[in-house]
Amino acid sequence: MKTAEIRQKFLDFFASKNHQVVASSSLIPGNDPTLMFTVAGMVQFKDLFLGFEKRDYTRATTSQKCLRAGGKHNDLENVGYTARHHTFFEMLGNFSFGDYFKQDAITYAWEFLTGEQWLALPKDKLMVTVYASDDEAYDIWHKTVGLPADKIIRIGDNKGAPYASDNFWTMGDTGPCGPCTEIFYDHGEEVAGGPPGSPDEDGDRFMEIWNNVFMQFNRDETGTLHPLPKPSVDTGMGLERLSTVLQHVKSNYETDALACLVRAAARETGIEYSQSVPSLKVIADHIRACSFMIADGILPSSDGRGYVLRRIARRAIRHGYKLGQKGLFFHKIVADLVAEMGDAYPELRQKQAVIEDALRQEEIKFAETLETGMALVDAALAGGKTAMDGDTVFKLYDTFGFPVDLTADICRERHIEVDMAGFERAMEEQRTRARAASAFKVAGSVSYDGADTSFHGYSNHSVDAKVIALYKGTEPVQTLAAGDEGIVVLDNTAFYAEGGGQVGDIGEISAGGGVGALFDVNDTQKIKSAVFGHTGRLAKGSLNIGDTVQATIDLHKRLATARNHSATHLLHAALRKVLGNHVAQKGSLVNAERTRFDFAHGQPLSAEEIAEIERVVNHVVAANHEVKASLMGYDDAIRAGAMALFGEKYGDEVRVLQMGDFSAELCGGTHVNRTGDIGFFKIVAEGGVAAGVRRIEAVTGEGAVAYVQAQDSLLKSAAANLKAQTSDEVLSKIGALQSELKALEKELAAAKGKLAASAGDSLAEQAIEVNGVKLLAAELEGADSAALRDLLDKLKDKLGSAVIALGSKSDGKVALIAGVTKDLTGRFKAGELVNHLAQQVGGKGGGRPDMAQAGGTQPENLSAAIASAKDWLAAK
Ligand code: ALA
Repeated sequence: MKTAEIRQKFLDFFASKNHQVVASSSLIPGNDPTLMFTVAGMVQFKDLFLGFEKRDYTRATTSQKCLRAGGKHNDLENVGYTARHHTFFEMLGNFSFGDYFKQDAITYAWEFLTGEQWLALPKDKLMVTVYASDDEAYDIWHKTVGLPADKIIRIGDNKGAPYASDNFWTMGDTGPCGPCTEIFYDHGEEVAGGPPGSPDEDGDRFMEIWNNVFMQFNRDETGTLHPLPKPSVDTGMGLERLSTVLQHVKSNYETDALACLVRAAARETGIEYSQSVPSLKVIADHIRACSFMIADGILPSSDGRGYVLRRIARRAIRHGYKLGQKGLFFHKIVADLVAEMGDAYPELRQKQAVIEDALRQEEIKFAETLETGMALVDAALAGGKTAMDGDTVFKLYDTFGFPVDLTADICRERHIEVDMAGFERAMEEQRTRARAASAFKVAGSVSYDGADTSFHGYSNHSVDAKVIALYKGTEPVQTLAAGDEGIVVLDNTAFYAEGGGQVGDIGEISAGGGVGALFDVNDTQKIKSAVFGHTGRLAKGSLNIGDTVQATIDLHKRLATARNHSATHLLHAALRKVLGNHVAQKGSLVNAERTRFDFAHGQPLSAEEIAEIERVVNHVVAANHEVKASLMGYDDAIRAGAMALFGEKYGDEVRVLQMGDFSAELCGGTHVNRTGDIGFFKIVAEGGVAAGVRRIEAVTGEGAVAYVQAQDSLLKSAAANLKAQTSDEVLSKIGALQSELKALEKELAAAKGKLAASAGDSLAEQAIEVNGVKLLAAELEGADSAALRDLLDKLKDKLGSAVIALGSKSDGKVALIAGVTKDLTGRFKAGELVNHLAQQVGGKGGGRPDMAQAGGTQPENLSAAIASAKDWLAAK
C-alpha cells in the first residue's frame, strides 16, 4: 500500500467515526511562544485541550507536518543511523476534546490496525505498553480487545523523575500531558532488538507505531500538574513507520515516499543507490525538513528557527561532501520531493523556486568555508588525537559556520569525543564580550518588581510623572547625582520604548519646572513588558525616588520617526501589491533618519519595480488618508485582514493600525495622524541580506528632501566636472569619454606590441649557451600574458633553436611563459620548465611541450626563479 493511500485510509477511518478531517497546520506553531516547531498533531489543538477554545466539533483527525529538531523533541542526531528517526515526518492523529476517552481510543486504534477492510495487520505481530499504574488501559487491552498478558507491558517512571516516563507524554516543559499507551510492531526475529522496557529496546525489531495519549493534565512552569477541564485523547502515528510495516520493508528509508529521495541523493552525489549508506539517508530526510521549513516561511539565518534550518541544511551538505560531491547538489533534490509530496502539500509546489533558491544560496555560502573548516578539523585531530578541544569547536562554529552538532557528527564518524564543556566556556566568553559591547542596552537586564508604567505617548509629547525607581548603571539606588548615568522608571510616560522595530524615544526628564534636576534620556527600553526604562545621564541637580517630574520627548525626532514608521506600513502593502503576496516582513528598523525593511523575495528588484513602489506609496501619501488605531481581539483583527508577523507574540487584545483601505497591520508603534504628514517617500537603497531576503531603505519628509537635494547637487557637480552645460548632457559626455577611452586602449595595445617586437630584438642578444643549447631567460616590465605570448613567438623565430623562459610582474602578480623550439621538444618540455619556475613564485602551471604558461603570487621571487632556468637546463 502506497504512503498516500495509507494517509487517506487513516483519515477515512476516523471520518467514518464522526471525526472532523482538519488540515495540517504550519510547522511554525501559531501564537505559541513555548514551542519552536510543531512537534505533534496535537499542537494546533492545544487551546482546545486546555479548555481555552471551543469549536463546533469535539472529534478531529489530521495528517500533520511535524519537525523534531530542537528543544525537548529532537531526533536530529539519530537521523541516518537508525531505520526510523526523522527530523521532518508526518503524524497521523485522532483527537477527542472531552468527547471519548480510553475505551474508544484503544478500540478505534485496534479496529483500524487489524480490521479486514482497514489495514488488516496480523494481531500476533502487535504488542503494547501502558503506564505502570494505568489499570484501566491495561484492562481494556486485556479484557475488551483480548490481547494476551504477555503482549502488554507496564512501563513506569523510567526517566528518573515522577511522570518522566516513556508512557507519560508531555508536549513541552509546559502544556497538556498525560499517560499513554503505545502500540509496537514486531519486525521478527531476524531484526536485532528487544521488546519495550528491555535493555536492548533501542534496536529496530520492535518499532513503536502509534501513541495514544490520554490527555488529563496541564503542566505549569513549576512542573505542577493541574487536571484538564475534560479528559481528552491525543494520538500520533508516524506515517513513515506505518508505511514500513505495510510495505514489508525494514526501514522507513525503503518506503516509497523516502526511497525515491535516497535515490535522488545518490544521483546528485554521484554514487550508487544503496540503503546502507547513512549519508544518503541523512540527505533524504533533510531535504524534506529544509523544504517544508522554507515553504512555511523560514529562511536560513543565525538564530531561532532559521538557525535550526541552517543546521539541518549544512548537515546534509556536509554529508554530500563526505560522499565526494563538492559541488552544489542539495537544492537539485527539491524537484524530486515536489514530485513525491506536492499533491498532498501544495505549498511545496507553490514555493518550489523559493526553496531551491534559498538552499542553493545556503550551499554557496557554506561551500566558501567548508573546505577550510574541514582542514581545521583534520589539523585539530592530527596525530591520533581522541578528543576535539572546545576552542576548535567554537572556532569552527564562529568562523566557519559549522553548527556544533555538525562538528559532533563529524567526530562521531571518527569515534572522537567532543569537549562540549570547553565549547560552552568559549561560547560564554563570547556572550560576555557581546554584552560588554552593548552595555547601553542594559534596561532589559535590571531587576524590578514595582508597578507598571502607563504610556500616554500616542497622544502626548509631555506628561507629569513620579519617579518610582532609579538605577545607577544597573544598581538600584534612591538618588541619582549630577553626572550619574543610569535608568529612570516613572509611573507615567510619553516616551515610546523600543519595540516592533521602532527605536525608543529620546528627550528629557526635568524636575522643578526646568530649574531643578535635568535627566537627558538617550534611549527608552522595556524593563518588562509594561515597565519602561529611560536610559541616560543626569545633567544637573539630583533626582530622587518619589520626585515629581515632567517627561518630555524630543518631538522633532519623534515626528520624523513616526513618518518613517507609517511609511514602512505603506511600503509593506505596496510591496505586496507590486511584487505579490509572498512578500512577508522579515525584520524592520525605524528611526528618525530612515526606515529599513527586510522582506522575503527571491530576486533583486528592478529599477522599474522600485519606481512603481515609490509611486504607489506616494500616491497613498497624497490621498491623505486618516491613520486610525483601534483595539480589538486578535482573531477579529486577523479575520478583518490585518497583517501580523509570523512567530510574533501578540496578546488577546491587539492594536490595529489602518491607513485608508490600503494598509492594516497589528502595531504598537507611534504614527502620523494622516498619510499626508509623511510628505514624500523615497527609496534610497535595495539589496540582499540573506538567502531569499531583500532589504529596502527609504527616507521620508525632510529626510527625503535632503536626500533628493544631495543627489541633485551630486549630479550638478558631476556635470561641472564633465564640463556639461546641463544635467541632461551628463550622459552624452560620459558616452563620449568612454569611446575616447576605448580608442586610446586600442592605440596603447598596438604600441605595446611594437615595443615588445623591438624588445625581442635586443632580448635575443641576451641568449646564452648551456650544454650546447641556446637559453634565453629574462624578466620583463609590465608585459601581460598576451604580450608574453607574442614575444615568445618572435624570439623563437629569431633564435631558431632555443629554450626560452620569460617572466613579468604587475599588481603583485607574476606571469610566466616558457617555450621550446620544435627541434628540442624531444629533450626539454616547456610545461616542466614553467612548473619549475612557477613553484618558486607560489604558483602552478603547465601546457604544451613547446609552449606553457603559468601565474604566481610572489613577485619578490621572480628574479631568482628566472635565474634558476639555467640550472634547470644544465641538470637535464
Ligand atoms: N502527541 C503524542 C505524540 O507525539 C501522540 O506521541
